[in-house]
Amino acid sequence: MLILGIETSCDETAAAVVERGQFVRSSAVATQHTVHETFGGVVPELASRAHVEAILPTILAALDLAGVSIAEIDAIAVGHRPGLIGSLLVGVSAAKALAWSLGKPLIGVDHVQSHLYAGQLSTSHNPEAAPQGSVFPALGLVVSGGHTALYELASWTELTRLGSTIDDAIGEAFDKAAVILGLPHPGGPNLDALARSTGTNDRAVQFPVSRLSADSLDFSFSGLKTAMMYEVRGVPRHPSRKELGGLAIEPAPMTDARRGDLAASFQRAACAAVLFKLERAFDRLDAAGRTPASLLCGGGVTANSRLRRELTDFAARRSLSLHLPAMEFCVDNAAMIAGLAFPLLRAGVRSDLTLAPVPTTAC
Ligand code: KG4
Ligand code: ZN
Repeated sequence: MLILGIETSCDETAAAVVERGQFVRSSAVATQHTVHETFGGVVPELASRAHVEAILPTILAALDLAGVSIAEIDAIAVGHRPGLIGSLLVGVSAAKALAWSLGKPLIGVDHVQSHLYAGQLSTSHNPEAAPQGSVFPALGLVVSGGHTALYELASWTELTRLGSTIDDAIGEAFDKAAVILGLPHPGGPNLDALARSTGTNDRAVQFPVSRLSADSLDFSFSGLKTAMMYEVRGVPRHPSRKELGGLAIEPAPMTDARRGDLAASFQRAACAAVLFKLERAFDRLDAAGRTPASLLCGGGVTANSRLRRELTDFAARRSLSLHLPAMEFCVDNAAMIAGLAFPLLRAGVRSDLTLAPVPTTAC
C-alpha cells in the first residue's frame, strides 16, 4: 500500500510517498523561507502563490525520488486543516484532482494530528514491522509554530485534547524571542543553536515558567515572550505615572555573551513549562487508571535540542515508550500526512470531492 501525501498548510510545499504507513519512500519539501525572510514572518498571500508554483514540481519530485509512477499510488492523502486558507486550498485542489482523475481513495488529514504520527515514520525499509496498535494508550504532545497541545490517544482515530495554549504557541514564542534578540529567520532553530553554543549560562536570567491554575493542563507563552522583550529593551515606565515615556528599568548592555545567556535562559523556561504540564497530564491519567504506555511527540519544536533531551529523560523516568520524530519529520512535511492516512484508511476513513480546506484543527 503506497500513499501519496500532500501538505501545503503554511509555508512549506511538501509531497511524500509512504509505504504501509511507516516506510518513507520519499519526502520532498520546497521551503519558502527566502520568500518570507525579509518580512520576518509568513505573508499568507505570498505563501499561496508560492504553493501554486511549487505544487506540481514537488509532487513529481516525490514520485521520482520514490521510484514509482503515479499509477502505482494506492491512495492520495492531503492535510486539509488547520492552516492558512489560501495555502491549504492549493494542496486540497491538487489532491482532489489527482484522486478523481486516477480513481483512487482520497483522505483528508488533520495536520496537528499528523504531527503526533511523525514518530512512527522510518526511512529504513522494514516491511515486517507493524508499529500501529502497539503504542496505545498514549499521551500526545504537539509543539509547533501554530499549536501547543496535550492529548490522550486510545487509537489513531480516538483522541481527546487535554489542554492547549491560551495565547501564543511555543514555536511562535521562540520565533518572536529570536526576533527580539536580533537573530535571523527562522528564529527557533537559530535560538536553539545560540543557546547551546559554548559558554552560555541558562540560569543567567530567571524567566517565568507559566503554570496557570493548580489543575490546568493549558499552556501560556506570551508572558515569557514579553519578559524577553523587557530584558532586551528595558521595562517601560508605568503609564499611570506622571513621567510618561522613557524606561523605569534600563536593560543591561547587549553583548554576544548576554545574547547567548538570554537564549539559553529562555529555552530553559520554555522547556520547563512543557515538561511541567506533561508530568501533570501523566499523573492525572495515571491516577484515573488510564496510565499511558507511550509518549507521542511532534511539531517543529520537537527539533529543539534541549526539549528532545528533556523528553527522553521524562519518558525514561515514567517508563514510557518515546516516539520522537527523526529531525526531518519534526517540522512540516508530507510524510506524516501520508503516514497517518494509512491507519485512517484501514479504519474506514475516506473523503470525497466535497473535501474543503478548514482554517481550524479538529483536534
Ligand atoms: O511544525 P512546524 O514546521 O509548523 C507548524 O505546524 O507550526 O513548526 C515550526 C516551528 C517554528 O516556530 C520554528 O521556529 C520551530 O518550529 N522550530 C524550533 C526548532 N526548529 C523548528 N523551535 C525551537 N528549536 C528548534 N530547534
Ligand atoms: Zn506543523
